[in-house]
Amino acid sequence: MTSSKLRNLFFQFFEERGHTKLASSSLIPAQDPTLLFTNAGMNQFKDIFLGKEERSYKRAVTLQKCIRAGGKHNDLENVGFTKRHLTFFEMMGNFSFGDYFKKDAIEFAWEFLTQVVKLDKEKLIITVYHKDEDSYSLWHNTIGIPKEKIFKLDADNFWQMGDTGPCGPCTEIFVDRGVTEGCGSKDCNPEDGCDRFLEVWNLVFMQYNRLPSGEDKPLKQTGVDAGMGLERLCAIVQDKDTIFETDLFMPLLEKIEKLTDISYKTAKPETQAAFRVLVDHVRSASFAIADGGSPSNEGRGYVIRKIIRRATLFAQKLGREMIFPELVPTLVELMSPEYPELKIQKTHIIAVLTSEVEKFHKTFLNGQQILEKYVNSAKTKTISGKQAFKLYDTYGFPLELTKVMAHDRGFKIDTEGFTQEMALQRKRSGKKIKEQECELDESISTEFTGYEVHNNTAKILSIIVDNKQVHDIKKGTHAYIITDVSPFFVECGGQISDQGYIHIGDLKAPLRGLKKIGNAIGALIEAPAALNVGDTVLLEVDSPTRINTMKNHTATHLLQAALIELLGKQVRQSGSVVTPDHLRFDFTHHENLTSEQIRLVENRVNKKIMENIPVDTFYSSLKEATKRGVIAIFGEKYKPENVRVIDIPGFSAELCGGTHVPSTGDIGPFKITEVSALSAGNRRIVAVTGPTAVSLFQDTFSDTKKLGVEFKVPVNEVADAVLKQKEQLKLAQTTIKNLKRSLLKTQTDTWLSSGETYGSVPFLYLVLEDVQGDELRDIGSALLKKKPGFYFLVAKGKDRSSFFATIAPSLTEHIDLKAFSCWLKEQGIKGGGSGTSLQGGMTKVTKEIEEAIRKWAKEQSS
Ligand code: SER
Repeated sequence: MTSSKLRNLFFQFFEERGHTKLASSSLIPAQDPTLLFTNAGMNQFKDIFLGKEERSYKRAVTLQKCIRAGGKHNDLENVGFTKRHLTFFEMMGNFSFGDYFKKDAIEFAWEFLTQVVKLDKEKLIITVYHKDEDSYSLWHNTIGIPKEKIFKLDADNFWQMGDTGPCGPCTEIFVDRGVTEGCGSKDCNPEDGCDRFLEVWNLVFMQYNRLPSGEDKPLKQTGVDAGMGLERLCAIVQDKDTIFETDLFMPLLEKIEKLTDISYKTAKPETQAAFRVLVDHVRSASFAIADGGSPSNEGRGYVIRKIIRRATLFAQKLGREMIFPELVPTLVELMSPEYPELKIQKTHIIAVLTSEVEKFHKTFLNGQQILEKYVNSAKTKTISGKQAFKLYDTYGFPLELTKVMAHDRGFKIDTEGFTQEMALQRKRSGKKIKEQECELDESISTEFTGYEVHNNTAKILSIIVDNKQVHDIKKGTHAYIITDVSPFFVECGGQISDQGYIHIGDLKAPLRGLKKIGNAIGALIEAPAALNVGDTVLLEVDSPTRINTMKNHTATHLLQAALIELLGKQVRQSGSVVTPDHLRFDFTHHENLTSEQIRLVENRVNKKIMENIPVDTFYSSLKEATKRGVIAIFGEKYKPENVRVIDIPGFSAELCGGTHVPSTGDIGPFKITEVSALSAGNRRIVAVTGPTAVSLFQDTFSDTKKLGVEFKVPVNEVADAVLKQKEQLKLAQTTIKNLKRSLLKTQTDTWLSSGETYGSVPFLYLVLEDVQGDELRDIGSALLKKKPGFYFLVAKGKDRSSFFATIAPSLTEHIDLKAFSCWLKEQGIKGGGSGTSLQGGMTKVTKEIEEAIRKWAKEQSS
């Protein structure tokens, strides 16, 4: 049974049992700061479990892309060394939201495994939470599992998504692969984590919300979150020893065999580990990048970087350090039928991986040398926390990598010490722990009216001072005012917050900030008068800035559509900032834009502006919108049943919560002002619209006009004229230089004729004006060429003068420049140089100095 068949059977089974089939959500969790990556099928349903969101269905079935390489669930270090661990996997999930509970969940799972997939019942064993008698009884009495095959466990059978959020007891189904497959002990059990027992299905009974305090608050309604790893099920069904030998991985292993000429089957265990690391990591890195992630030094970007670097390290063990990106085409061929995003982003993924692998290659050699030094000088077989941190901080070695390398040399790492160093650095760099925010009662919410109006009379529902709700405040207090309605747009989707005012009677307080607090909008002001909950105030958006922001926002949509049209579907927004003055749009693209392409994009956007297309806003379901090809931005959170679509018919349709102009013509002119490369595969465009673009045209035009007058050419010929003049200037400079040189030749005779000879040493003290200090050297050599001697040349300036003294090599037995330098120093003149020349500055050029130098030269030469 192929993996593809298993996927279909799973969907079919649960759809027949009333489950709505939904798409996998992005690996980059939508605005959930508690998560690095989507790590379970239930992530996209978190708010439903928490009772914050409702859907039209109560049962759902999904196949979810998951990454477990950081945070609460992290398998990164295990990958390669076990038969079953992965950082990326596909989770088959069935969910109930306040609908069925333990009985159905257990019966569904049993039926699917034993009747659809036809696993051997005898080989299945069960674990339950030690306090969950209901599940125990269901397995034993209803399903008929003998007691010796049901294990009661503690922490292993309580599942939580992260440090906070939905959680509950769980029951797991394992396949017992036999004593010979595991650690060898006859009485080992699933808790031991040995390879004998392979966990396939985890049925979580959602009952609580874990709060930051650690308290488990019961949920309003219970739910089921059942998840089964496709890769593990495949291994069992396809009767493979490890998940890596299933059809999900074999083509990738074979590709590595081809690239390295090493056979996986017959390779040594540590070589096999390298194969496994590569095939797993190419999946997690590629899928993460396809979903909008990119390697960086922070958060999820850092996890992606760690994955790529770890893969590179293991590729090195196979003797082919750079092969990692070469696995992408095989992965795309293998998985793009299920995940088309891989095919669309293929070039981008390869570009990012290649650049990252190359970057790592450069830092790697340095780091490796340092590690060798630590190893060679170590007294115990441990890399200290400080050393591991140095490798991390200075040489870019993630701890996991240092671990692998230390392990190869029989060393351990003081991880605790590393964590302490990390904490110290955080403290040094002043990174603050997120401030505790005020938690508002869910019943306090603000209706946003800013799509329609810019002014609103509103009633104060709450006042927050220093994160605490208060009933009243005095004049002069800084407080967040929460009202029943508000026209103020709070920063979201790249669009920055509104500016505006709160009017209290005749008094007016400018906004000092805006913030979403729970379901409410908080407006920060310094109260111009005493205020009470229940008071009526007038909220006013600063219209001119808002209108300019709207122009830039709609222009951003046009820009994205134009880029996709010109460069291809793989172009995707990777960041956006919309302000009243400009827009900034970051997008994935592997090449720099040519000036021709930039012009084409500008023309396309301006054309759509001039067509004055009415901008249509409507609401739809996410499913419907996706079907219509509406662009959704990765990492944004959308309510699946009610998404807002900004439609510019025939050109652009995007999911967006921002504010937009009524018709494209309202944008005014559009001009790109900057195009730059951010990181591998990421570009940035900065552009202006409306009044800012007009000012830009006016300013540049008036400057160009001025230049045109200066150059006596029409404005459109100014650039040519400037270039031409630059050429002429260069030519003139060369001519001057040549002239000076020939002048020098004729002058040397005149100068030399004014010199004297002391003993056998011709001497000249020459003061020149209108020469630069660095020209003295040329004059010196010209004099020496004509007549070997000892020459002291001065370039006299208004405030400062400089000197250059030179002696012919044939005369150094008479004149020792070192001694001269010391003597000069005594006279207050400092200089430096070689044995035959000396140069420096002079504050005064006087007759006395000249005489003293002459005297010194005379004494030395005679
Ligand atoms: N959320 C549970 C898990 O990830 C079951 O889907 O194991």
